[in-house]
Amino acid sequence: MGNFDKEIERRRTFAIISHPDAGKTTLTEKFLLYGGAINLAGSVKGKATARHAVSDWMEIEKERGISVTSSVLQFEYDGYCVNILDTPGHQDFSEDTYRTLMAADSAVMVIDASKGVEAQTRKLFKVCGMRGIPIFTFINKLDRDALDTFELLDQIENELGIATCPVNWPIGSGKAFKGVYDRHNEKVVMFSDTEKGTKEGKSWEIDIKYEDTLKEAIGEDAYSTLKDEIELLDGAAAEFDLKKVREGKLTPVFFGSALTNFGVEIFLNNFLSMSTTPLPRQSDIGIIDPMENEFSAFVFKIQANMNKAHRDRIAFMRICSGKFEASKEVYHMQGGKSLRLSQPQQIMADDRKILDTAYAGDIIGVFDPGIFSIGDTLTTAGRKFNYEGIPTFAPEHFARVRQMDTMKRKQFMKGITQIAQEGAIQVFQEFNSGMEEIIVGVVGVLQFEVLKYRLENEYNVEIRMDMLPYEHIRWIENKDEIDVVKLTGTSDMKKVKDMKGNPLLLFINEWSIGMTKDRNKDLVLSEFGRN
Ligand code: G4P
Repeated sequence: MGNFDKEIERRRTFAIISHPDAGKTTLTEKFLLYGGAINLAGSVKGKATARHAVSDWMEIEKERGISVTSSVLQFEYDGYCVNILDTPGHQDFSEDTYRTLMAADSAVMVIDASKGVEAQTRKLFKVCGMRGIPIFTFINKLDRDALDTFELLDQIENELGIATCPVNWPIGSGKAFKGVYDRHNEKVVMFSDTEKGTKEGKSWEIDIKYEDTLKEAIGEDAYSTLKDEIELLDGAAAEFDLKKVREGKLTPVFFGSALTNFGVEIFLNNFLSMSTTPLPRQSDIGIIDPMENEFSAFVFKIQANMNKAHRDRIAFMRICSGKFEASKEVYHMQGGKSLRLSQPQQIMADDRKILDTAYAGDIIGVFDPGIFSIGDTLTTAGRKFNYEGIPTFAPEHFARVRQMDTMKRKQFMKGITQIAQEGAIQVFQEFNSGMEEIIVGVVGVLQFEVLKYRLENEYNVEIRMDMLPYEHIRWIENKDEIDVVKLTGTSDMKKVKDMKGNPLLLFINEWSIGMTKDRNKDLVLSEFGRN
């Protein structure tokens, strides 16, 4: 295998999905520890740690002390080149969180063992499900009292609709946490919290056949419970099947405690060997293989306003095939011209480095003078095609927005339109009404603040926002067959249209969606919009 092939083969690009506080940051830090990037570990957007360097991109970040941007961490481990995409979580949950998943080849789902499947995990999982990427589950915080293990697995299966296959099995939890049973190697890995912060500490391992030693180590009760549970598990759990894992139909489940660095190494090793090399992608000329010589990439995120004075933006792109070389020109499909990408860089947690080369699987950020949009394709002049567009994700918060000064309508519309093009907000109008009122939809409420701030600071327009009670939006898939004007749903249903004139429906709750579907048997509704 040539060097080119090897470079791509050893790449693993994934995102971590979780509900806030499940331990995503802690787990990422431990990964970096194994990757030897320990000096970076402290600077992952931890609550207690400084978050200046990357996050000074926007004033608002400073004011709120949160990171609106997401970064990519790259590290080397055991011959692999690992790219972790940070999915903005807490209050900064936004469409970018979803879009990041479009650039990943697999996902790690972190679940708090005492809480089980939570709301944000559910939402992010849906997007992974749509793409059919492999999902690896790390059930965290076993050093705290946990829910029953079978119940946790049931929740994943029933609420997320994916089969589970425990790779290891916890022995107790909280104060009684003894370790995990490694099903494949049939041995117990004893828990110790003294490994905290190191990668050298090796856990004590006991083969399951050494009954007496094991009983002594974990206690008679825990031993007999373990025996029972293994028996139950062997009878009931899905068989491990790598093909199903790679199709996103079966999730391998691991248990551990990120804080005490227990179970992280086992997870990382298994995850890296089970997850895929960069995946092929669908384009309008067919599937593009990452190993193809010709460079190609698509833009999945645009970070606006890096420097207010220049209205700079950074476009993040995922390389899908070939090798990127900074010295060579690439072809921008939507712009219809060849160009050299300006200052290509890899954005790290606390650093940006200018790079000369990158391979399929990698993410690069380039300075964007305002020519790129989300979903744009870059290729070489010799081989032109377009990648499938990035879906529009359903906003969950809506507000009626108007400018305070009616004389400023033009600036207002310009600002709103540009910000919408960057993908931070979605803009709708009343359906069938001459009213010029604008309804803005966002995935995370913070985007409202960003909008207000940017309109004031960049476009000099003050706005007024009135929150609307809607939480669900649905695209009408069969809009040509449906007479939207005559469509009747529930009394709370609202018809709107997007900037291209496509009709959409807003609802206050799930129940109304169900009722509307019942009343209109032919209506096909979708949670994702296709551009
Ligand atoms: P997030 O990125 O998913 O939001 O979670 P994060 O890693 O920030 O973890 C949330 C809290 O849970 C942190 O505590 C963290 O120390 C704790 N935590 C993470 N993994 C484990 C674990 O395996 N066991 C236990 N017991 N706790 C864990 P915090 O007090 O909220 O924050 P901090 O002040 O310690 O940073």
